Amino acid sequence: MTKKLVVLVSGSGSNLQALIDASRDPDYGAEVVAVGSDRDGTYGLKRAEEAGIPTFVRKVRDFDTREQWDAALTETVAGYEPDLVVSAGFLKLCGPRFLDAFPGRYINTHNSLLPAFPGMNGPGEALKAGVKLAGATLFICDSGVDTGPIIAQTAVPVADDDTVETLTERIKEAERAQLVEAVGRMMREGWTVKDRRVLLG
Ligand code: GRF
Repeated sequence: MTKKLVVLVSGSGSNLQALIDASRDPDYGAEVVAVGSDRDGTYGLKRAEEAGIPTFVRKVRDFDTREQWDAALTETVAGYEPDLVVSAGFLKLCGPRFLDAFPGRYINTHNSLLPAFPGMNGPGEALKAGVKLAGATLFICDSGVDTGPIIAQTAVPVADDDTVETLTERIKEAERAQLVEAVGRMMREGWTVKDRRVLLG
């Protein structure tokens, strides 16, 4: 049976688009059943609408407390009964309620080779550190910032003349391919987590 993905976005949604495109193949094993955001008007939401996928927005500032926002987001996402929730450029940390509702089933893609360069500026930090290999990491979210068990990683060479923009784009290309591949395998073959190791299949 086709598995259900809910994807959370805050920005351009190119990772989301890669999942939407992949799921057009029935053999992919999963489809995006809803797309959520923490802000209005993002290109990611537009991509979803164009693909006929339901969308929702839950903004932190519309709630009295962060906990209430977390509860509302949890309830909305849970309503779609997802097999996996994918944070693809979602710029909010979800709280304990959310993590408890989707234990080991909430994943995030990050644009560095973790544990190096967590946080908002992975490519910029990589350039500043002068590394020769940058990349992307897909991991299972825990309560920390970019600290959860790693599902997949892909390395990308840093060119001598890279800027933050050019490196970011090269990473994103590899990141999208990795996301599509790993999510498809998780949905078709399943996965387990043993200590810190995520085992596919
Ligand atoms: C990705 O590179 C992700 O690692 C970072 O934000 C980017 C999202 O890109 N956190 P997009 O919105 O999927 O195009």
